[in-house]
Amino acid sequence: MIILGVNEGHNASAALLVDGKLIAAISEDRPTRQTTRSGFPFKAIDECLALGGLSRRDIDRLAISTQHLPPKYFWIPRETFSIRDFWREQNEYWKPRLFEGTRPAYMEIFKDKVDPSRFVYDPSLIKNEDDVEGMLEARLRHHEQYFGLPRDRITVFDHHTCHAWYAYMVHPKRLEQDLVVFAADGAGDGVNGSVWYGAKGQPLKALHRTNQCNIGRIYRYVTLLLGMKQFEHAFKTMGLAPYANPKYGQAAYEVFAETLQVDGLGFSYRIKPKDHFFYFKEKLEGLRFDGIAWGVQQRTEELLSAWVGNGIRESGCGHVCMTGGVAMNIKANKVVWERSDVESLFVPPGSGDESLSIGAACKVAVDFAQLPAETIAQCQPMTSIYLGPAYDEADTQHRLDRMEGLQGCTIEKGPLSRVAQLLGSGRVVGRFAGRSEFGQRALGNRSILADPRPREVVRTINEMIKQRDFWMPFASSVLAQRMSDYVINPKHLRGDFMTLAFDSTAAGQKEMIGGLHPYDLTSRPHVVERDANPDYHALIAAFEKETGVGALLNTSFNLHGEPIVHTPEDAVSTFLRSGLDHLLLGEWLISKPGKS
Ligand SMILES: [Fe+2]
Repeated sequence: MIILGVNEGHNASAALLVDGKLIAAISEDRPTRQTTRSGFPFKAIDECLALGGLSRRDIDRLAISTQHLPPKYFWIPRETFSIRDFWREQNEYWKPRLFEGTRPAYMEIFKDKVDPSRFVYDPSLIKNEDDVEGMLEARLRHHEQYFGLPRDRITVFDHHTCHAWYAYMVHPKRLEQDLVVFAADGAGDGVNGSVWYGAKGQPLKALHRTNQCNIGRIYRYVTLLLGMKQFEHAFKTMGLAPYANPKYGQAAYEVFAETLQVDGLGFSYRIKPKDHFFYFKEKLEGLRFDGIAWGVQQRTEELLSAWVGNGIRESGCGHVCMTGGVAMNIKANKVVWERSDVESLFVPPGSGDESLSIGAACKVAVDFAQLPAETIAQCQPMTSIYLGPAYDEADTQHRLDRMEGLQGCTIEKGPLSRVAQLLGSGRVVGRFAGRSEFGQRALGNRSILADPRPREVVRTINEMIKQRDFWMPFASSVLAQRMSDYVINPKHLRGDFMTLAFDSTAAGQKEMIGGLHPYDLTSRPHVVERDANPDYHALIAAFEKETGVGALLNTSFNLHGEPIVHTPEDAVSTFLRSGLDHLLLGEWLISKPGKS
């Protein structure tokens, strides 16, 4: 059965599932070159189908995530918003509604942001900017026409069902263990927290759904109050938190601690704010910025940990799975896995809304399977995280021949030992090879790589290409067999996707200090098994042979504010526009003049 999963909301994406196996999954932001792109994912769909050797007419069933998406966000894509625009949204849209009894129109406030070209649906079906039912009908009709499928072959699932089913179905031990799944995010279809239970591969059952799990909402508004983008930059608040002196963070922490509380599998309030932006804006006034980051992070960790503890008690299951945007808080995940009642923690890659398309497709595979139930139970859709396009040697060479700007560069077949030598001598290398990774983390195939030993490598890469905020850490790819040398992992958790954080060992602090958080010295490693990515494993092994270090600093291959490179042309363009000296493009090593 050929199933296409589609997410048209925030972080739009497509996923192709053929006979229970995930063939391709791509976020629309990569091919469109616009971070967190929303809307109908034309390009991601085309690329997924091409990777399966299929056309639109071959699809048996469509799986769509999220029932209710407001039309206004299709006309006004908020990924184009500046920080000031998000403040305008609060001051000119929410404040009058919440405090002044007026109802200004979103489309009027942001009329300068309306992009009619992004609205591909029939507007005659929509009554107003908030008409989610009309929007759903318009979306369904668009899907019917675009794919030539009748309505009974199209299924729309609610947002949290997609989050939970994704995490559950891609869990590597789903058939061996009972699992308790927690999904927490900004919100979708009126829910922002849900708890689920799955018994050894049997269909997932919802234990609880709530619209009061406002951990993500508080975190994103605090991020905006700190002068950063509310959807994209939450990780910067998390990265800032460890620098604060708890003495200065305590006052902020107490502001958060007197509001949202864990209440069984749900949440309640000690003090219920009328809203989650202006309330905290007023209460946090006059407090240090780093203390605010510390306070919200501390409270987030406490709330998530307590919630998980209650879920374990309720379900009797210590094998935990976390997903949704809040699960991208790797420091909170660390507090969760350190709980004594947590036997294991799995956080899948791309746990934000980009994976909703996969969750929807998996749910359809189970609901409409033509296979016996026991076969479905054995369906393990994700055997690899490398789910995007690849370019073979001939194609790469053909494209290279047609690219401009490479005059004077040296282009040679680069043996791994040569690349390892360059890395060992302090050079920074962009790597574009094999299929692209799904999710927001570069896992070697669209990565910038460097020797993780010198502390100053962070500054070197920032000045060369990343221009990251000075407080933000980089991460490392670590050979699986060296994991225990560098990080403390008493529960032997999987660290394949940079979704978990660990304390570092003395050897880790010596040999990969550039890939640790500079202040608390934690690591969010990408553990590389040979079978998962043989070529990348071989490169790190060559670096280990050269230097004795079984890890490489690994950060995503992109310029500041741009999505991760998607095509060889993107890679070369980024290489040429940055201070990078070397680019490994497939088997070709490209060096700038005088750098070979
Ligand atoms: Fe979500």
